[in-house]
Amino acid sequence: MSIDRAAFGVDLHLELDPASGRRAGLERALREAIRAGRLSPYTRLPSTRSLALELDLARGTVSAAYDQLIAEGYLSARTGSGTVVADLAECPAHAVQPAPEMSAPRYDLRPGSPDVSTFPTAAWLRATRRALAVAPVAVYDYGDPRGRVELRTALADYLGRARGVRAIPDQIVITSGYVQALALLAGVLDGAVLAMEDPGLSFHRDVVRHARAGVVALPVDERGARTDLLSTSGFTAARAVVVTPAHQYPTGVTLHPHRRHAATEWARSGDGLIIEDDYDGEFRYDRQPVGALQGMAPDHVAYVGTAAKTLGPALRLAWMVLPERLVEPVIHAKRHTDRPAHRGDRSTRPRRSDRQPRI
Ligand SMILES: Cc1ncc(COP(=O)(O)O)c(C=O)c1O
Repeated sequence: MSIDRAAFGVDLHLELDPASGRRAGLERALREAIRAGRLSPYTRLPSTRSLALELDLARGTVSAAYDQLIAEGYLSARTGSGTVVADLAECPAHAVQPAPEMSAPRYDLRPGSPDVSTFPTAAWLRATRRALAVAPVAVYDYGDPRGRVELRTALADYLGRARGVRAIPDQIVITSGYVQALALLAGVLDGAVLAMEDPGLSFHRDVVRHARAGVVALPVDERGARTDLLSTSGFTAARAVVVTPAHQYPTGVTLHPHRRHAATEWARSGDGLIIEDDYDGEFRYDRQPVGALQGMAPDHVAYVGTAAKTLGPALRLAWMVLPERLVEPVIHAKRHTDRPAHRGDRSTRPRRSDRQPRI
């Protein structure tokens, strides 16, 4: 509550808090006005006499307050020009200290962020040029919802070699990132409940829920996801499980052989689906390569790989290797997210545009 006000010029009002005592209240009000910029540098303050009159204070009180603020550097007294507001920027005690310079960290160890500065731009340009030079013009048209067969064929070969995935091009579907693959799979499972690692990426759980599927948390320990729990009563509703066997996200643990076995046994015995998120399966840090889980049970694993870590997330390039029974439902779902639904799928018909382009 204010008891007294003094107007400096048009705008400035000093509010004196009675609880502070008269002199301290005036000092505080002046300090705040100066700090907030309401009293700008070099503003001339009223004489002690006129301010004392205006605020109904003893002149000695105003004078003592001015002296205190001069000592603190808020005011300065100049012979002949009275008391003026000091320029705080010139006063080392009040100058705003620049934030200490932060040098960029040498390594960015935040999980989920690849070092995109290593993107192989030159090699990518060369490869794109080489591919487009011989690509038929059909590559620029709507195509097979699974993606170009050339890419699927190359992937089938690569995944077999590098990840032990059993893949044929017909069962591979190219997607725009792991996220699209997960959304499609959750969608075709049609309202099913998916067991998902906890901890895990909460965004991925949101993607699943957005596709109108349910989520049940699957704990993780030092052996990876507790797939041994899938056959217990807490998980009877789960029709699928999403796991990161190569490196659990975010703990980094590799799924223990017993847990791999438990997952495939659960899937086989109850016709469950394992969604294998192999987001950084190509990377080895401290151990022998561990092949993809898909190689152990290709009929029960929907394998998903991505270029987000090996190349860069901006490519939005990922691939699924599907059990045969899921290929048609996923193609159907993808057709409705990738391209106008009213256009028929012309990908399987021979096309005039399948000739080589003129370059
Ligand atoms: C656990 C996990 N899975 C998959 C991905 C890749 O996702 P996307 O291909 O959609 O970029 C990431 C990327 O950070 C991830 O952390």
